[in-house]
Amino acid sequence: MAHLIKSHEDLINPHIRGLGISATLAINARSKELIEQGKTVYRFGLGQSPFPVPDLVVSALKLNAIQKDYLPVRGLQQLREAVADFHRRKDEVDIQPDCVLIGPGSKELVFLLQLVFNGEIIVVSPGWVSYVPQAKILNNELSFIHSTFEAKWQLTPKLFSDFLKKRNHPDKPALMILNYPGNPDGVSLTKESLVEIAALARAHHIFILSDEIYGQLDHKGKHISLARFYPEGTIISSGLSKWCGAGGWRLGTFAFPKNMKWLLDGMAIVASETYTSVSAPIQYAAVQAFKGGIEIEEYLWQARKILAGLGNECVHILRAAGVKVHDPVGGFYLFLDFSNFSQRLHERGIKSSSQLCLQLLDDTGVALLQGSSFYRSEEELTARMAYVDFAGPRALAAARTIPLHEQLPDDFIKTYCHKVIKGVKEIVQWLTK
Ligand SMILES: Cc1ncc(COP(=O)(O)O)c(C=O)c1O
Repeated sequence: MAHLIKSHEDLINPHIRGLGISATLAINARSKELIEQGKTVYRFGLGQSPFPVPDLVVSALKLNAIQKDYLPVRGLQQLREAVADFHRRKDEVDIQPDCVLIGPGSKELVFLLQLVFNGEIIVVSPGWVSYVPQAKILNNELSFIHSTFEAKWQLTPKLFSDFLKKRNHPDKPALMILNYPGNPDGVSLTKESLVEIAALARAHHIFILSDEIYGQLDHKGKHISLARFYPEGTIISSGLSKWCGAGGWRLGTFAFPKNMKWLLDGMAIVASETYTSVSAPIQYAAVQAFKGGIEIEEYLWQARKILAGLGNECVHILRAAGVKVHDPVGGFYLFLDFSNFSQRLHERGIKSSSQLCLQLLDDTGVALLQGSSFYRSEEELTARMAYVDFAGPRALAAARTIPLHEQLPDDFIKTYCHKVIKGVKEIVQWLTK
């Protein structure tokens, strides 16, 4: 046998060859190495919520540790009801419980969707790191819509309509993935844009996967779902990972319109032959999270207040130094554009976003994730910063001592998120040295 095989590469499915491990995990691994060597690392690479899981939800998990049975492949009925109700309440869309699918993280659900859907996948750049590797693993036909700093890194109706005019096969079924508030940009789509995007998608029969995993972390609590304007063609993606601080619990949700249930059915078949169902205790606990209530709303309110304050402070420092960056609207990311420093960086031998992030990490301990991981060109000097390296439980406890409707005091961010501010100042010093 050995003589037939040239190398181990030959034994790997060709669609997987050449792909590295997920970029976010790689930067985290490198940061860990530096920490083990005793260096201070500003962990702005991995986008993980700094906040603890709400007490109410933790208690529900403890109570349900005894749940040991396999659950239905599509998810626990009570949870599907709570998720449907959540979207009715929050997004004003009529989702039926039997149109909800529960999965082990929304990442897995995006993958299953890309596997089951037979058509073109349209992705906006910059976009979340995993959409495209997933499409490549599945050998899907991929199209990109490239956004710009001026368009706030998001899809605009103009970019969408220009793309639609140039499509090679306008009749081919297509699924576009939209993410807002966005990773990597922290910007969101306005109501006006959503209305226009919905009209274009409807006219051109484009299905939308609306990745709203950061929806509840809109800094003003005013997230609007595209499903409000295009209910018949939009799947809403959410989960516990971001707004509930429970990324490691691995629970994601997809909510389908009734007329797209055929896609859910296809995904459930694959799920039944692969992971069977999501961990039972986690699903029971998630019911509590999606049911919401005062405790959850108070938690979200505090989280938003802290993230907004910190995001704005970071932008203030970075912008004053000449870094191009947009005001954050939701989530906990900033997409930094270093083009104003390109000449200086070129002189220092830094000509790509990967080189930039590597050199910055080695020189200062600041871990950012290179723009090329978000489908930007290697030469574009952009990078994502996740402003999450602070003690979330401590910041949350401190915020709770301040009356709910009052703003955080001036020194709050400096006191409770000082490491993030220090890291941002390190970036500025490094750029201007
Ligand atoms: C935009 C976006 N979508 C989806 C996910 C996947 O989240 P999970 O699989 O934890 O639900 C993430 C996680 O970072 C994300 O940032």
